[in-house]
Amino acid sequence: MKIFITGGTSGIGLSLAIAYLKEGHRVAVCGRNIKKLPEDFLSTYPKAEAFNVDVTKREEVLKAIEDFSKGQLDLLIANAGISEGTKPNWPNFESYRNVIDINVNGVLYAFEGALNIMKKQGRGHLVGIASVAGFMGLPGAGAYCASKSAVLKLCESLSIDLTPQGYDVTAICPGFIDTPLTRQNKHPMPFLMDAEEGARRIKKAIARKRPLYVFPFRMKILVTILDKMPRFLYRLIFKIPGARP
Ligand SMILES: NC(=O)c1ccc[n+]([C@@H]2O[C@H](COP(=O)([O-])OP(=O)(O)OC[C@H]3O[C@@H](n4cnc5c(N)ncnc54)[C@H](OP(=O)(O)O)[C@@H]3O)[C@@H](O)[C@H]2O)c1
Repeated sequence: MKIFITGGTSGIGLSLAIAYLKEGHRVAVCGRNIKKLPEDFLSTYPKAEAFNVDVTKREEVLKAIEDFSKGQLDLLIANAGISEGTKPNWPNFESYRNVIDINVNGVLYAFEGALNIMKKQGRGHLVGIASVAGFMGLPGAGAYCASKSAVLKLCESLSIDLTPQGYDVTAICPGFIDTPLTRQNKHPMPFLMDAEEGARRIKKAIARKRPLYVFPFRMKILVTILDKMPRFLYRLIFKIPGARP
């Protein structure tokens, strides 16, 4: 397969890239700084390519996907993303704009670039890395939750539109995975999983062409309860004064 992964210079994206490369697939990763890749990455995996791309720059994203695919692309994983870091309780709109730009526009540009190629093939698989944070509003993470909710709904909608036309669309919602992104968190991270195990599970869900994959299972249960519970109860969890039905 030919696979393009945005944000594959560390964390989940890099672990996914290595897992696919070990199976002999051709894999491109991209990031703003490909020097972050392990020094021996390209020499260890001759079928790997790396592109310096900022996913907020549409032309850069489209060009990298086109240059790598040369007319053939089987799988696009829109994984590049950032979080808001320190979880402030006052909105930082500059940070919000950045989060939305990378986590939402970055996915749109990657999907557009991939579909430009896949349309000519009449097949292909788009994957968006969302998050369990996309199911509800969490404290100090307004833009991150909004961005992941957008990716979730985008994938669900595209899945309905494109699956009957022969394309697959998958939304992945990981719980906590141990990566540079979560290492900055100061709050507890239940069911934390290492990136290799996370990548193994994501890869399996992609192979099964699941439209939605929320994991690990215990996190899925927790998120489902939090998502479906009456909102006044949800607000009580966060001790919101005057929370009422
Ligand atoms: N870790 C978790 O617990 C968790 C849970 C749910 C969802 N996720 C999602 O999983 C995805 C990967 O996160 P991770 O945990 O693996 O974090 P990570 O190790 O920090 O990786 C993020 C990747 O995104 C790239 N990136 C960020 N901004 C970019 C930009 N403007 N243009 C191009 N690439 C950019 C980074 O590369 P450069 O720095 O080189 O640009 C890096 O390769 C994110 O979408 C994240 O929201 C993570």
